[in-house]
Amino acid sequence: MNWIVDNPKMNVVVMTGAGISAESGIQTFRGTNGLWENHRIEEVASPIAFRRDPVMVWNFYLQRRKQALTCRPNTGHLAVAELEKWIRSAGGSFLLVTQNVDGLHSRAGSRNVIEMHGSLMMTRCTACGEVFQDESTDMELPPRHDCPDKGLLRPHIVWFGESLFPGDMERIESAIEMCDMFIVIGTSGIVYPAAGLVNFANRLGKRTVCVNKDAPANIDLFDRFIEGEAGSELPKRLFPEK
Ligand code: OAD
Repeated sequence: MNWIVDNPKMNVVVMTGAGISAESGIQTFRGTNGLWENHRIEEVASPIAFRRDPVMVWNFYLQRRKQALTCRPNTGHLAVAELEKWIRSAGGSFLLVTQNVDGLHSRAGSRNVIEMHGSLMMTRCTACGEVFQDESTDMELPPRHDCPDKGLLRPHIVWFGESLFPGDMERIESAIEMCDMFIVIGTSGIVYPAAGLVNFANRLGKRTVCVNKDAPANIDLFDRFIEGEAGSELPKRLFPEK
């Protein structure tokens, strides 16, 4: 068998997108039945939308929070978590970068994770900046923080037109600089800066592997493309079972 990772003494960076959670029942963004088919991106996932109608934006994210809480990690998330354990116990290094905000990787047991687009289960105060864990699905809208300014609370999500959280890009790029292999799973390769990380790894001469149901936009940048669903392909191909 031609495993994606055949030796655990390696430095590996994995990046995932909505495709890895599709088999858990979470809608992807683009394509048939995608989330953006029924919602205009700029009307729900942008700072302008939030300024205009915070209640509508909160309703959208509370709906997604509810949905994520009822879903469970699938065999794809579990394979990625097992790969991390295998590599770390052999002395290699592992970083998981995810564009997903559903929290399923952590629930599957992944430990070294950067949620580059934030998390559905976190809330941030627009006045004092405090970020906190928040799984409530029923609240008075729009919610206010109990800080001195009674700041308006917002989902801790990186919206279109916003930058990543401070330090995340630096951590991701330095892990890619040190890695032997960059594995990308379930993402369309359209949204930057995530898509640009494949160019970055490619320019550095890193081995790049993609596992995706359909060919991503940046397929030319990969050394190897495995076409299929993450939940069935990853357990069979990611690394040899112990
Ligand atoms: P997309 O919906 O753009 O792409 C999902 C990709 O996963 C597509 O290429 C599908 O072919 C593939 N796919 C679907 N099911 C799969 C499966 N079972 N196994 C493997 N691949 C599968 O989602 P992302 O690329 O994650 O940003 O989108 C990137 C960002 O754009 C998101 O983080 C979100 C979105 O707008 C924000 O909300 C800020």
